[in-house]
Amino acid sequence: MKRYKLAAIPGDGIGPEVISAGLQVLDALVAYEGSFALDVETFPWGSDYYQRHGVMMPSDGLHRLRAFDAIYFGAVGSLEVPDHVTLWGLRLAICQGFDQYANVRPTRLLPGIESPLRRVAAGDLDWVIVRENSEGEYAGQGGRTHRGLPEEVATEVSIFTRVGVTRILRFAFELARKRPRRHLTLITKSNAQRHGMVLWDEIFQEIAGEFPDVSTAKELVDAATQRMVLKPRSLDVMVATNLHADILSDLAAALAGSLGVAATANLNPEGRFPSMFEPIHGSAFDIVGKGIANPVGTFATAVMMLEHLGESAAAARLSGAIETVSASGVRTPDLGGTATTAQVTAAVCAAIAASPPHA
Ligand code: NAI
Ligand code: MG
Repeated sequence: MKRYKLAAIPGDGIGPEVISAGLQVLDALVAYEGSFALDVETFPWGSDYYQRHGVMMPSDGLHRLRAFDAIYFGAVGSLEVPDHVTLWGLRLAICQGFDQYANVRPTRLLPGIESPLRRVAAGDLDWVIVRENSEGEYAGQGGRTHRGLPEEVATEVSIFTRVGVTRILRFAFELARKRPRRHLTLITKSNAQRHGMVLWDEIFQEIAGEFPDVSTAKELVDAATQRMVLKPRSLDVMVATNLHADILSDLAAALAGSLGVAATANLNPEGRFPSMFEPIHGSAFDIVGKGIANPVGTFATAVMMLEHLGESAAAARLSGAIETVSASGVRTPDLGGTATTAQVTAAVCAAIAASPPHA
């Protein structure tokens, strides 16, 4: 029997609530499938750890994660620790340390869920946003001088390298090629940002020649937001910089009903390092401890993780169970329902148990 080593990092806020739900669903799935096992080790890293140890994870943290097949991550962020400390100390430390340069964010309207957009049917909103995840606006280059003085200055420099841009664009073309519509939209701001963003345009043009079967479009990021709202069907796969794609994917999730349903994979496509899978939402201070966090994004995250591990039959079963429960109306308050995290989790476990065996 195949065994996979899974590192769980629940993190802060609702992170532990949704990761615990996700692990329950994975247990139910493993029990049903019977063909593989998950050896899960949980790491207590995050803001509580920071308050006790002064760091978000131990200095050998990456070294300890190195041996795992995948990382299942909740969220980080707390009212007690500044956001840039929590983000850079854990999530970005893992993404950048493990060269997880491709961040993949699918968004789809689940059955039974109403989009805040009027007149949008399920098939109209089916996107994948590919986010450059290693450089750009999150390169960490910059600094502050003359702190606190009137002449204080701060710089936040975006870094775009030919290697970095080429690999993410090629990844996006490959992904677009595997989807039925085979359409890729490049999103930049190359009218105003005339160096880095123009480099993106040029490399996109070069690589497009290698993918004659993928149709392409270009859009400025501001115009892209209105296209997402007004003409959702005209988009399929979108590729954008670290910051732009981060913003667009929260919009995408909201248009699909809630931040609570969206999943993301931080991939090291070459498999030199483990990849990391997480719901896109944060620690959601306003609902922590209430038992109403939507676990669906964390379940959808598990679907992406199983696909990455090569367990596509199990991934499809879990995806089907999520859809069954979504269509049945068992849903948390963020989607207009009254169910708790535990009730949605139990419903998905029951849907797995009731699903037909493999043909
Ligand atoms: P957030 O995603 O935590 O919450 C935004 C809104 O969406 C809140 O009203 C929240 O209740 C709701 N929401 C989010 N996930 C939900 C779920 N599963 N079920 C139901 N409702 C849900 O974003 P916010 O408020 O900007 O950030 C809170 C903290 O999380 C900050 O410290 C921030 O830095 C951190 N953060 C961490 C991320 C990560 O670990 N990847 C991503 C985004 C934010
Ligand atoms: Mg975000």
